[in-house]
Amino acid sequence: PEEKHGLKDRIRELLKKNNAVLVAHYYVDGDLQELAEETGGCVADSLEMARYGAESNADTLIVCGVRFMGETAKILNPEKRVLMPDLDATCSLDEGCPAAEFSAFCDAHPDHTVVVYANTSAEVKARADWMVTSGIALPIVQHLKEQGEKILWAPDKHLGHYIQSETGADMLLWPGSCVVHEEFKAFGLERLHRLHPEAAVLVHPESPESVIEQADVVGSTTALIKAVQEMPNKEFIVATDDGIFWKMQQLAPDKKLLSAPTAGEGATCVSCAHCPWMAMNALQNLEQLLIQGHNEIHIEESVRARAVTPIQRMLDFAR
Ligand code: 13P
Ligand code: SF4
Repeated sequence: PEEKHGLKDRIRELLKKNNAVLVAHYYVDGDLQELAEETGGCVADSLEMARYGAESNADTLIVCGVRFMGETAKILNPEKRVLMPDLDATCSLDEGCPAAEFSAFCDAHPDHTVVVYANTSAEVKARADWMVTSGIALPIVQHLKEQGEKILWAPDKHLGHYIQSETGADMLLWPGSCVVHEEFKAFGLERLHRLHPEAAVLVHPESPESVIEQADVVGSTTALIKAVQEMPNKEFIVATDDGIFWKMQQLAPDKKLLSAPTAGEGATCVSCAHCPWMAMNALQNLEQLLIQGHNEIHIEESVRARAVTPIQRMLDFAR
């Protein structure tokens, strides 16, 4: 702990020296979230992370999260330096939606409005009409449906299916999924809920339909954190990355949090409620980043100029 203390102190100094702020997602290590808060940065979901970058006066944004979050920050703030502790921190949704194939899919359906999830590359966003995050996807799709638009949705099929069933919109779905949320199992969840009947079930909408069906609350990371604070229940079963427990516990220390089961009895899962790419952010590589200034996000201007439109549309809608 003393060593960690020293490391955190050195990082605080380096942040000041570089006029840099930390923009951290709720899934990263609790030490990083704590440091971001203590040093005037932000800890947030993907929607608020996108908003924060533009509001900050810092010269350098250090995005502790996954690659698409750093890219979104750069797209919105081309004049700022955007760094990440590990540029290989990707996302299975982003990986599963290569720009060339996605573009061909769009070409094959020219009468559809293209709506992409934030968890995509800058190139994919450059091909979209709208970008959404889990926190704003429902009202935006509802709005497009009311305008009579047909929607091409990518890349998360579970989130897409959930939005389709909530809004009744005409949606074509790209077949992507999140390796973390896909692991949550309906059968295990039913059993755990029977053992804890008073617990409220909180589910991120990247989870399979059979898990979403059991939810008391379905929502973005911010919405799930709010539910823990505001609902009277003393126990919660949470189907999302367990990095979120740090914030939930900070805001509601008396509540008991249980992770939703990820696989059948005795079986192992790939990611077990913990995103392997979010876990690539650590105090050690953050310190190195601040010393060396490497791992900068660069986006070709022709791509950036097109990708900013769908993101800005979302931010204007959310206002
Ligand atoms: P949120 O926008 O809800 O924070 O989700 C981001 C994410 O990657 C979920 O897996
Ligand atoms: Fe991507 Fe899933 Fe990790 Fe979120 S938790 S960054 S959707 S792989």
